[in-house]
Amino acid sequence: MTSPSPSTTTIILITLLLTTLTPTSTSSNSNQCNPTPNPVKNLQHNKITVLINGYSQSRIPILQSLAATYSLSPLVSSVLILWGNPTTPPRVINQLALNLSSSSDSIFLHRNPSSSLNDRFLPRLNDIKTDAVLICDDDVEVDGASFEFVYRVWSANRDRIVGVFARSHDLDLNRKDWVYTVHPDRFSIVLTKFMLLKRDYLFRYSCEGGPRMAKMRKIVDSLRNCEDILMNFVVANSTNVGPILVGAKRVRDYGDSRNDEGKFSSGLSGRKGEHRKSRGWCITEFHRVLGRMPLRYSYGKVVDSIGEQGLCRKGGKLVFCDH
Ligand SMILES: *[C@@H]1O[C@H](CO)[C@@H](O)[C@H](O)[C@H]1NC(C)=O
Ligand SMILES: *[C@@H]1O[C@H](CO)[C@@H](O)[C@H](O)[C@H]1NC(C)=O
Repeated sequence: MTSPSPSTTTIILITLLLTTLTPTSTSSNSNQCNPTPNPVKNLQHNKITVLINGYSQSRIPILQSLAATYSLSPLVSSVLILWGNPTTPPRVINQLALNLSSSSDSIFLHRNPSSSLNDRFLPRLNDIKTDAVLICDDDVEVDGASFEFVYRVWSANRDRIVGVFARSHDLDLNRKDWVYTVHPDRFSIVLTKFMLLKRDYLFRYSCEGGPRMAKMRKIVDSLRNCEDILMNFVVANSTNVGPILVGAKRVRDYGDSRNDEGKFSSGLSGRKGEHRKSRGWCITEFHRVLGRMPLRYSYGKVVDSIGEQGLCRKGGKLVFCDH
């Protein structure tokens, strides 16, 4: 083996330099963490910014009707569509942007700065003007009354994640590993298909937590999965309680945007098994990096059976205010 010639060394150095200069999710989020020039000073406390994750070109019609429906709600301040698919032709994006801007002045299309799944949690300090942020997918429709109910539940529990789809972590005692699963009676993870949380958590996810958080965001990038689980870790790490699950009256779930467009071609059960396994692995890794397991179980669903009532916290429990 001969030692590298000077020109080889130069090439390696140039490659390193280029790698450093290429925009990555890290550089895009560091801009996001240092806002210029007019960060929003007065957050609106009684409105919601809706962040819809857009990915699939075939679902643009659903996406448009979803965005329009949200934008008409009196609870909604604005709707940001976060386009996360870097392979969508600019022609389609431009057409969509035109369509959206002609239909409403409170719907905005943002193409994510990178293909990182972490981008869906960028704090967007110049665009998100509300305390409350609804994170949702382009393939999930929740009826208007349930949407309002989710917001009412969140209003009484502003530090929690409130959502309508839940999963769970559990310990595999034989392998001494964490697994990702569904329990009939308890849950510890709310899915980003539809979750309401405060804006601060986006900042915490993207900008805080030091090297540990950076390492966990990297795990999300390398697996292209688990950003939703990591958000649940971030919130649970600061609240030490589990999320809140709300029973929605009507939900339409058109499918998981990550699993289509030919990215996975194996059979459904094999694909689901793999998906579950890598999510269990994420939980194990996040636990290892964080040095503790912050996820906590919650039990039961909050249901809107009593109509127009507020929810109050009493002795750590969620109750209707007139009780
Ligand atoms: C834009 O709107 C037109 C008319 O409503 C529709 O035919 C077209 O498919 C839309 N295109 C996109 C990209 O949304
Ligand atoms: C988790 O919580 C601890 C204690 O409050 C805090 O010091 C730490 O920064 C948090 N870690 C992350 C990754 O948010």
